[in-house]
Amino acid sequence: MDVLTHPMENRPRYGVILSPRDMTLPISLGVSGGLFSPELPSGETRRVELEIGFGNGEYTVKYARAHPETMLFGVEVSPACVLRCARRAGGLDNLKLIRADARLMMRELFAEGALDKVTMNFPCPWPKRRHAHRRVTARDFADSLAVVLKPGGVFELVTDDGPYAQEARDRLGSHPALALEQFETNPLRPVTTKYERKWLAEGKSIYRLTFVKTKELPAPEHRTWGLMQERKSIMHIRTERPATPGFVEALNGASGQEGEARWAFGRCYASPQGDAFLLEVFSIDDEFEQRYFLRLSERDGGGLVQLDRTANAFLTPSVRGALRDVASRLS
Ligand SMILES: C[S@@+](CC[C@H](N)C(=O)[O-])C[C@H]1O[C@@H](n2cnc3c(N)ncnc32)[C@H](O)[C@@H]1O
Repeated sequence: MDVLTHPMENRPRYGVILSPRDMTLPISLGVSGGLFSPELPSGETRRVELEIGFGNGEYTVKYARAHPETMLFGVEVSPACVLRCARRAGGLDNLKLIRADARLMMRELFAEGALDKVTMNFPCPWPKRRHAHRRVTARDFADSLAVVLKPGGVFELVTDDGPYAQEARDRLGSHPALALEQFETNPLRPVTTKYERKWLAEGKSIYRLTFVKTKELPAPEHRTWGLMQERKSIMHIRTERPATPGFVEALNGASGQEGEARWAFGRCYASPQGDAFLLEVFSIDDEFEQRYFLRLSERDGGGLVQLDRTANAFLTPSVRGALRDVASRLS
């Protein structure tokens, strides 16, 4: 189940899950018509923070409750974790959850200088060399951090993995716009997680690294997926002929690729009348995976291929590619 397609997001007793379709990207908390401007009084002074990889959300929800003066965003790659955290969050209105890969989406999601603080608690250490590229701090993370943090903004990393802490210290500390302010062992933290308490109770160590953005540098060149471009127009394509049961059956397992963007078609569901289909698609851009449905229907004697209403996928190149792929097979 993809949490972003789950109707739960609309129930007030659950937390707020931001669905890509409704997001104004990059998220800017400026007063001029940004996504959150209706909620924010002019001259908004709330701090804006991001937590990466919040897991079951224990820390996240406690933190948001303890800091009503802060607007906290959580970015987590696991849909199940987003759902768990949303359940915990209840009616909190200062916590927004986004299902995305922070490595690839931080700069797509947040405007330059949007964040006062970024926190990451106990990231997956991926100790094997061949998995090193999966560490959140790998790739161009330091550059992204330096762009989305405000001058004076802070990045706090807490880990139980000594080598990970050392690597982050070297990698982030040597960035020209960031400085390591503190490297602490077993700091007292007002908000903790279950795992952290258990780990400490066993006499093991945790490390907290605090980095500060010290300089405003020109934002480095960034590969962007242009998630805002073609936002409306790419959502549907008309085709010469409509889909048929035979057509969708033949698509099962078919795949496509454009550069780094890849997609594959899965199961298909037919409407009771057999004139519309929901086609499951798995997409991957770089390493960011998404699962959603395309809706194939009849329109004016021809066909219509569109992202299903519930899809809520980010319009990355693979999503656009999959849509175009199906349309071209029907033309
Ligand atoms: C070891 S868990 C820690 C969870 C939580 N922070 C805690 O302290 O209990 C790491 C979490 O990071 C998430 N994660 C891993 N890579 C990520 C990425 N690239 N972007 C966002 N979340 C990620 C995982 O899904 C997992 O929930």
